[in-house]
Amino acid sequence: MQNPLPHHPNLDCWLYASHCALPSAWAPKAVEDIVAKSIQRNASLEVTGALLFNGTRFVQFLEGPANGVAAIRQSILADSRHRNVTTFMTEQQSCRIFSNWSLAYAGPSVFISDKIENMVRNIPSASSEIIDMLRSFVF
Ligand SMILES: Cc1cc2nc3c(=O)[nH]c(=O)nc-3n(C[C@H](O)[C@H](O)[C@H](O)COP(=O)(O)O)c2cc1C
Repeated sequence: MQNPLPHHPNLDCWLYASHCALPSAWAPKAVEDIVAKSIQRNASLEVTGALLFNGTRFVQFLEGPANGVAAIRQSILADSRHRNVTTFMTEQQSCRIFSNWSLAYAGPSVFISDKIENMVRNIPSASSEIIDMLRSFVF
């Protein structure tokens, strides 16, 4: 939880999926480290969002002021801990979906693998379904 964020009439958002490039034995711990650092950086840039990890693939949604989302996106795109970053959606929205979460993360969720694989093959119609799934994990 965090203090209420200022209202931004226009929030940029970014939804992507990628493949984990970390050795599987280390990945869960490494992802926890990524999340711990991300919570701080996202909060400082007024960015909120959620991350899913199924052991091999990441799905992440971020929302916030354009400059904050752009800065984090640049870092994420350059991060060698994952590859094949595929954007599903970049849009503007007027209110936050994950307003109480700098970065919601539910831990490795292997049992949703099939669902993620099906969704990422079904670009772009799956965006809202993916966001719904992220929401269902954190609310
Ligand atoms: C799957 C994945 C998700 C990430 N999510 C975030 C995030 O939400 N916020 C963030 O600040 N960094 C995130 N990172 C880490 C960034 O890629 C980067 O290492 C970090 O922001 C430091 O930025 P810098 O390398 O440009 O200094 C993520 C990395 C990975 C692999």
